[in-house]
Amino acid sequence: MDYISLMDKALEARKKSYSPYSHFCVGAALLCKNGKVYTGCNIENAAYTPTNCAERTAIFKAVSEGEREFEAIAIVGGKENEPGGFCVPCGVCRQVIAEFCDKDFKIVLGSADGITVYTLDDLLPHSFDKSNL
Ligand code: THU
Repeated sequence: MDYISLMDKALEARKKSYSPYSHFCVGAALLCKNGKVYTGCNIENAAYTPTNCAERTAIFKAVSEGEREFEAIAIVGGKENEPGGFCVPCGVCRQVIAEFCDKDFKIVLGSADGITVYTLDDLLPHSFDKSNL
């Protein structure tokens, strides 16, 4: 699947965002190496800390279905009632991505002129991961 289509799925997933506290809606679409796509949105909580980011929702859905091989994730976010735009993954999500993905895993972000593609190594250099244990 091309990354524009993956971003379209992230935009669709963003519509499901449950974010009554921040009013910041995020969608993600995770492309497996076998071609399957798992989507996710952010899911907030009145106690705040149980909040799950869109990226982790997508990754945990995929891993819980037996997937372990990932090629790319598209992420889009923005304020409620505004079109989705550039939204970098938080540090926790970068660490979760690093658990399952190689350094050349692609992180596709929305931008004014479409998409910008980063690698995991761009966004989380010198990461602590299973190779350190
Ligand atoms: N959020 C994500 O879903 N992904 C990120 O990587 C950044 C932050 C969510 C968490 C929270 O529901 C809202 O955006 C504001 O932080």
